[in-house]
Amino acid sequence: MPSRPEPLPDIATPLVAWQRTHGRNTLPWQNTRDPYRVWLSEIMLQQTQVTTVLGYYERFLQRFPDVDALAAASQSDVFALWSGLGYYSRARNLHRCAQAVVAEHCGRFPDSSAALITLPGIGRSTAAAIAAFCFGERVAILDGNVKRVLTRMLAFDGDLAEAKHERALWLAATQLLPGRDIDRYTQGLMDLGATLCSRRAPACLQCPVCAPCRAAKTGTQERYPVKTRKLKRGTREHVWLWLQWRDRVWLVQRPDTGVWAGLWSLPEFDSTEDFDRAAAGWPGQGEWLGSFTHVLTHLDWRLHPLRWTLPTRTASSRVSRIANAWLNGRWFELKDALAVGLPAPLRRLLSQGTRAQSVEGKMISPR
Ligand code: ADE
Repeated sequence: MPSRPEPLPDIATPLVAWQRTHGRNTLPWQNTRDPYRVWLSEIMLQQTQVTTVLGYYERFLQRFPDVDALAAASQSDVFALWSGLGYYSRARNLHRCAQAVVAEHCGRFPDSSAALITLPGIGRSTAAAIAAFCFGERVAILDGNVKRVLTRMLAFDGDLAEAKHERALWLAATQLLPGRDIDRYTQGLMDLGATLCSRRAPACLQCPVCAPCRAAKTGTQERYPVKTRKLKRGTREHVWLWLQWRDRVWLVQRPDTGVWAGLWSLPEFDSTEDFDRAAAGWPGQGEWLGSFTHVLTHLDWRLHPLRWTLPTRTASSRVSRIANAWLNGRWFELKDALAVGLPAPLRRLLSQGTRAQSVEGKMISPR
């Protein structure tokens, strides 16, 4: 930031006019002030593209048309409909939030950002978006896209990895708010960030706020936003055990926190040696399916699926002794497994089903 701050530009007037003619105005969560619908869309749209969200949104609303229906649902039903959208803590919080709205707010979403932010899974920017869209509250949003728009606009070079700079940007975002049309202004910022003001090669010639944009003036758009802390990516490797008996597969429910929280998945082993030890003496045989890497935001996860088929005639007492090594598991018929919340790669694997692939088996560097 310059040492003597220049006055903030008026971006609202051109942005609101542009949103009206060039923005997105017919998405299924628009043209409503129903906080349930708006809230659901805002949660789904976190870290997820509009095109991906569209199908999920409609299916979700069909199954859970209002907050009471969602609150009354079982967690596994919620996860089943979320399956494939990723970032599953969102689904857990969504369910918790619906239950809190019913239990603590008589089934009505509170009508201010200050109250919305106290609910599970609703952060400052999401609370502001809901309050602006549904209640016309004059309050700033600042998600990843909007940070890019505003840091460019203001040539804001404070490092957003530091809380004080993040606070300063929130303050600037608040000072930029218009006195009217807050809903269209908010949508305009989102639309600009999602379309013209892209990370690389922004389309400044078409931008309604190019004239006041300090980064555009100096051709420094790609410098913003400044954020030094790099996400440290990790790697992880597991044998993924598909244990099959008759027409059933043994799935375990993952813990409440961490990757794929709460979803049903396959038992994991840190190495082939660990698996061999556990499986010593099991009847039946195993086959390696194709290994693959599942890329998460913070992690490259190399998975080596191994299908172990217990002979049909194996006594159920013997089968129980094997499977009960995982306390949080149960048998699923394949079609039932596909109806619950599964991580996307497991859904793919089970759907491809019986087609065993190469014997690309051994883990290279078991940990
Ligand atoms: N991303 C987050 N909120 C959005 C909205 N309301 N419309 C389009 N994209 C969004």
